[in-house]
Amino acid sequence: MKISKILLLTISVLTLNSCYAKQKSTQSIVEKSLKFSTEQSMILYRSIEKMPDKLPRTMNSDGGLVTSNDKWWTSGFFPGTLWYLYQYSNDEKVKSAAREITQRVKKQQYTTDNHDVGFMINCSFGNAYKLAALAPDKAVIINAARSLSTRFNVKIGCIKSWDKKEWEYPVIIDNMMNLELLCEATRLSGDSSFYKIAVSHADTTLKYHYRPDGSAYHVVNYDTITGGAKAKFNHQGAFDESTWARGQGWGLYGYTMMYRETGKKEYLNHAIKIANLLINYPNLPEDKIPYWDFNAPNIPNELKDASAGAIMASALIELSTFVPKDLSAKYLSIAEQQIRSLSSDKYLAKKGKNAGFILKHSVGFMAKDSEVDAPLTYADYYYVEAMLRYKNLLNATDDK
Ligand code: GLY
Repeated sequence: MKISKILLLTISVLTLNSCYAKQKSTQSIVEKSLKFSTEQSMILYRSIEKMPDKLPRTMNSDGGLVTSNDKWWTSGFFPGTLWYLYQYSNDEKVKSAAREITQRVKKQQYTTDNHDVGFMINCSFGNAYKLAALAPDKAVIINAARSLSTRFNVKIGCIKSWDKKEWEYPVIIDNMMNLELLCEATRLSGDSSFYKIAVSHADTTLKYHYRPDGSAYHVVNYDTITGGAKAKFNHQGAFDESTWARGQGWGLYGYTMMYRETGKKEYLNHAIKIANLLINYPNLPEDKIPYWDFNAPNIPNELKDASAGAIMASALIELSTFVPKDLSAKYLSIAEQQIRSLSSDKYLAKKGKNAGFILKHSVGFMAKDSEVDAPLTYADYYYVEAMLRYKNLLNATDDK
């Protein structure tokens, strides 16, 4: 055998060994972090157990818990986190906490004044139904899909995100996430209208929200007469042409999920385009947790957004199952790094601290100075989801 061939073979074996070692060590980090997340979330649950109608939202600057009512857009994430942790732990106490807290969001099945009903009901009742399959939960999901569908405009082809006086018909990239509820409702009810709305929304968003490089605007304001876009801008990003990190996460997750739901190749190709933009972004830090905006003006002296890192990790793990081997390994390795970073002391809370939330250091709305460098329920939700996806993926590979 030629020396060059031996060298190539040795390098391949060494690379394989190091990938395997990294996977094994990430697996043990994931086990430890899921156990911690379960204990921490039960601490959080106990702190609101006696506050009917309240849901955890964030922590104030004194370290105190900030709650919300069920109407706030994040109300479904903590119930969803508990359902995931029940899936992990099989602990009946976690299940009964999940069941109780999920009921607090129930009224939102009838909400028609914003698009967030998808986040609220799919994360809570959607996960409840997957794990416990109770008929009343199924009815809630279908009702919520009906409520969300009332916001669809045929001329535009999208669901309206917000009712705000300053914009005629604003649609935000976050809304991609709410399409999963519609697809699930079609599966549960046999009514294909929900699915058709989801596909139309994803097609229209692909056409109008994205720049040629694969980054998304946060908001597109549509014209209800022509059906076209009147304005494209960022509401939560650093400036109108910037690449707001969480918005990119919503898009990456949304198109990956819509490919899973529809099998449409254009969604897969689009998800790949977004993923490749983000993982190769020169401003993506070494720990792979993005700054709150990829173009924030003072990088590297800007805050990271753990929520964006968690959403990206969860999406990349799913996307890694749909793409050829090389790309799959690349996506999985970035997601592994993100999970490892989020599981480090820098981001992971200490037991009983951080007002009971799992992760520190997310950025809610920078320009409003709201929930900046704070824990957030959706960071915790997607972090736990990413770890479960990783664990399931590796278990499935081991079984082959
Ligand atoms: N959906 C609102 C946000 O991502 O901040």
